[in-house]
Amino acid sequence: MRTPIGTAYREFHRRSLEDRDAFWAEQARLVDWHAPFASVCDASRSPFLNWFAGGMTNLCHNAVDRHLAARGAQPALIHVSTETGSERTWTYTELHAEVQRMAAVLLALGVGQGDRVLIYMPMIPEAAFAMLACARIGAIHSVVFGGFASVSLANRIDDAEPKVVVSADAGSRAGKVLAYKPLLDEAIARAAHKPARVLLVDRGLAPMTMVAGRDELHAAWREQHLETVVPCTWVDSTHPSYTLYTSGTTGRPKGVQRDTGGYAVALAASMKHIFCAPQEGAQRSPAGETFFSTSDIGWVVGHSYIVYGPLIAGMATIMYEGLPIRPDAAIWWRLVEQYKVTAMFTAPTAIRVLKKQDPKFLRQHDLSSLRALFLAGEPLDEPTATWIGEAIGKPIIDNYWQTESGWPILTIANGIEQAASKLGSPGVPMYGYDVKIIDESTGRDIETPNTKGVVVIEGPTPPGFMQTVWRDDARFVETYWKSIPGRTVYNTFDWGIRDADGYFFILGRTDDVINVAGHRLGTREIEESISSHPNVAEVAVVGVGDALKGQVAMAFVVARDASALGEAPARLRLEGDIMKTVDTQLGALARPSRVFFVNALPKTRSGKLLRRAIQAICEHRDPGDLTTIEDPTALQGVRDAIGAT
Ligand code: PRX
Repeated sequence: MRTPIGTAYREFHRRSLEDRDAFWAEQARLVDWHAPFASVCDASRSPFLNWFAGGMTNLCHNAVDRHLAARGAQPALIHVSTETGSERTWTYTELHAEVQRMAAVLLALGVGQGDRVLIYMPMIPEAAFAMLACARIGAIHSVVFGGFASVSLANRIDDAEPKVVVSADAGSRAGKVLAYKPLLDEAIARAAHKPARVLLVDRGLAPMTMVAGRDELHAAWREQHLETVVPCTWVDSTHPSYTLYTSGTTGRPKGVQRDTGGYAVALAASMKHIFCAPQEGAQRSPAGETFFSTSDIGWVVGHSYIVYGPLIAGMATIMYEGLPIRPDAAIWWRLVEQYKVTAMFTAPTAIRVLKKQDPKFLRQHDLSSLRALFLAGEPLDEPTATWIGEAIGKPIIDNYWQTESGWPILTIANGIEQAASKLGSPGVPMYGYDVKIIDESTGRDIETPNTKGVVVIEGPTPPGFMQTVWRDDARFVETYWKSIPGRTVYNTFDWGIRDADGYFFILGRTDDVINVAGHRLGTREIEESISSHPNVAEVAVVGVGDALKGQVAMAFVVARDASALGEAPARLRLEGDIMKTVDTQLGALARPSRVFFVNALPKTRSGKLLRRAIQAICEHRDPGDLTTIEDPTALQGVRDAIGAT
């Protein structure tokens, strides 16, 4: 019987904060160290932390090599593509061989310790090999989501300055081939930094024009290194393992930088305490079981819970390329049955998509191996949680976190003590996190239950948390730690409340980040892209609630030449044209669902865009305090524009 948070977890959490070093030194035993660490948490340069400094380790060793003796013949990576019809399993021994081959190729292409390797790939096994190969040789990977287009990619290339890019001819979605190589070529042409080499996996999906002296075919190089032995490079625990770009308030994405040792420990601990809790009885290892996360390697969930987390735990991990409803809506459950998945991780949007399908698909397969379904990335609404919980008859565990944290901030740690989830709440602060709700303007703690404030984390943050913004320590401090007056706390930029039992509820972002189908996007980036259209004078992009995707982006545009826009066909043409601009620059996922044309945008007298008021009107809510508005008719213009459709 599950009850609210019990004393065992409370004590576990208390110890993690009050006896931090002893607590995390214990968790650090879950991974291998080549040389022991000299200190556990060095916070002398707070908010910059050094976790397990002096300790020498390697992420790839912990994910692959250390399992060879005990489970070399067991499955490690299961790749399933319903796009190309391929399905293949690599044992730990086979994965070890492939990762070494990829590492040997990267070394041969000139990649050394600390060099960046940008990975722009679809969900193919070579993407995981490349990530692990980077970790193996101490190179820093920077995976860019395959759905991003040339401008997004060019910005990331310029920030990461990769020596090598690993990519492929194409991805595929719903049977439609999406060529990557032309987008990559365009991105490199746009970028100021030019990667020395590009390693390409040819899936035979789209033709590639190779650039002599720069582009290399993966298969040919792999062939040369079938037997090359590449030992793991032992790196200091604080050595960056990767950067991953994420959106914030400005149009310039931030490179979230993660360490090595702290990340390994955080993931190992989360697999044990959060994701692989046994249903009943004593603790046991999930090694040998199967984990299925439906995310993409381009997002943080893919880094932590497709690639590193499950492998560090000695599990088999499923990497899936395809839609949840192709060939039909039973596909994921077929994989659960076939590979005896014990823990599954997806996003609420995917469940809402499944909910629209015939429920018979949920009953076609034996799900008895599955212990829990984890959902994250966006708010989990009650009807979706209830529907899927009843449909599969398994615990549904919401978990709240961010690219910055690398692992859950709020959830239920059933591995420590079984506790009830509350509908609508991701749960309680995880061990290592001192989470508070504070008043945004005064910076004071809000102790009264059920009172809205900003969700913040009191430092020091736990292992696995971002180290800094890549090459921009000042931005890390200014953006995350100095945004609230009088306080030095980590700002999540999420609104939240805490109830009397200590459960948190997340109420949406405080900044201009929107969440479309679990994908985090910056409205400023979308605005910048739309502004590049020659007939756009001004633009505001807001996130608007959507029953399926959580939110969608909507754009309000003041055209330079509005003379022809009186006619609906002309408006539709320009709308389509603007959407295409976003598609080709940022990628289809950033495309606004609608573009509306207005004469003026609502602004304050000092010229600040009133995005929240626009958003409220789109959601048919009260736009709130408008005393600072410069021209009230601009709001009516927004109302008319959406009403006119
Ligand atoms: O607004 C919160 C929302 O997604 C943001 C982080 O997105 P990202 O960096 O892509 O990391 C996703 C890692 C799972 C958060 O600031 N968010 C994430 N999980 C939840 C959530 N909102 C409500 N409930 C959640 N479980």
